[in-house]
Amino acid sequence: MAPNSILAATAAVAFLGFLWLYRINSAMKSVPREALERSPRRWTLQQRRDTYDRVKKTPIDFTKHLPPRQDRRYIIVGGSGLVGGDIVLQLLQRGQPPASIRVVDYQPIFRKDMLQHTKGVDFVKTDITSSASVEAAFAKRWPASVAKHPLTVFHTAAVIRAGERNKVHYDRCQRVNVGGTANVLNAARTAWADIFISTSSASVAVTPITFWVWPWETSPRNYLQILDESDFDRPLRPHGQYFGNYGLSKAEAERLVCGANRVGFRTGCIRPGNGIYGQSTDPVVGHSLQQGNNVSWTPHVIQNFVASRNVALAHLQLEAALAGKEMPKCAGRPFVVTDPNPPPSFKELYDTLHELSVTPTTTSFPPPVLLLIVAHMIEGWCLMLHHLPILTKLFGLTEPGLPVSNLQPGVFTVSAHTIANDSAARKSVEDGGFGYTAVCTSLEGICEQIADWNREHEAEKGNGSLTTSGESKTLTEKIVKAGLAPEPVGA
Ligand SMILES: *[C@@H]1O[C@H](CO)[C@@H](O)[C@H](O)[C@H]1NC(C)=O
Ligand SMILES: *[C@@H]1O[C@H](CO)[C@@H](O)[C@H](O)[C@H]1NC(C)=O
Ligand SMILES: *[C@@H]1O[C@H](CO)[C@@H](O)[C@H](O)[C@H]1NC(C)=O
Repeated sequence: MAPNSILAATAAVAFLGFLWLYRINSAMKSVPREALERSPRRWTLQQRRDTYDRVKKTPIDFTKHLPPRQDRRYIIVGGSGLVGGDIVLQLLQRGQPPASIRVVDYQPIFRKDMLQHTKGVDFVKTDITSSASVEAAFAKRWPASVAKHPLTVFHTAAVIRAGERNKVHYDRCQRVNVGGTANVLNAARTAWADIFISTSSASVAVTPITFWVWPWETSPRNYLQILDESDFDRPLRPHGQYFGNYGLSKAEAERLVCGANRVGFRTGCIRPGNGIYGQSTDPVVGHSLQQGNNVSWTPHVIQNFVASRNVALAHLQLEAALAGKEMPKCAGRPFVVTDPNPPPSFKELYDTLHELSVTPTTTSFPPPVLLLIVAHMIEGWCLMLHHLPILTKLFGLTEPGLPVSNLQPGVFTVSAHTIANDSAARKSVEDGGFGYTAVCTSLEGICEQIADWNREHEAEKGNGSLTTSGESKTLTEKIVKAGLAPEPVGA
């Protein structure tokens, strides 16, 4: 009799556990009413096709929206990257001479659109975690034609480790994002820069979400968040009140930059909200096009995206405001910027990619709670290796590589319903903003990126997968390969 009742009790507990996971899964798939109220309409098929055809024929023109050319010199730290590269291109488009622009980056210029247009732009290979390296990059002589002009510094370099949230791994973000920013700030002051603008992140405002709710709760706690700058007027929150290490590192960097604002050295920060797209290297659109196959737990999630060219434009508009005669009210502050449309849902992005890309792009949607469990296991694994280094020494156990290592609980928090409020940036300079005006909507920007991609990949149409190596390509396959999931969880 006894063994039977143990069996029955075990079965009952397992069943209740299963029900609870089922409830959590449903909660994760919910859409808060307020998110729908703020963004009630979805992109229709017709809208997607029309927009694609339009921007393919007539690309979006940022040039006429750029603030006028200035007689200044420019250092763009991270100038080979997504936002930094677009800042370089927009500076050139508005007529800054190439000799007045210096890219300071670890990575040489590699973007095709940059290679075509950056002849005469200086490049200095730099490691921003080394103060000596940064100082040398800033101290390099300028061509005589511009040497006497005042200097603007755009600091756009950062590491993005969206998953990690434990203090023991904070140095991985801190070294580059905080230490690196301090080095760049010091070098800028030594080089007599008088304007310093840094790229921050709207995710600084994101606070943790509780996914493991009671069975009677219908949605994770704190599932919808409005991202603005109000946190900046309060002290930094404790570590655990950021979505992860990345958010805290960007918050600390922002305080350094904004705190350095004074007469003769005006500073400010731009918080792109949220995922930035625009190049094949971006984590939103480019990644999906490259990968061809994404595993997602967020199709229903409503969240702002922002075009890297809108973000670059925001940097130039803030610079124009800071370059005015009087110290403007916007100096020494961060500003959220996003695309000028209500936030779309991820599903709209996936459908658009699937429909318009000449290369196959599909997304599979395993139960969110399964991926969340895997994320906790990956986090647990990494923490175990940290606390028991002997496992690495004796058995050669290591942390998973990218992108699997990104699948940690923090990433579930940043990929929840978040609405970016950029009304402060859109105010006029007199009213304390910098007159932010985005040029392209998310649908336009995404369609143009797909059109560019299609032009490059037309030849491969119908040839099947784009992935070049024999490496398995989906996140699911990688998780399984890492031995962390019992069986493929993909659809
Ligand atoms: C892939 O899915 C993850 C999880 O839903 C999401 O965070 C990421 O942005 C997706 N990537 C693309 C390109 O849609
Ligand atoms: C955005 O923030 C402004 C204050 O800067 C506020 O007046 C406005 O109501 C906010 N909008 C939303 C949609 O939260
Ligand atoms: C795709 O197919 C076309 C025609 O069949 C061929 O010319 C092209 O080289 C192929 N591209 C790749 C990447 O295999």
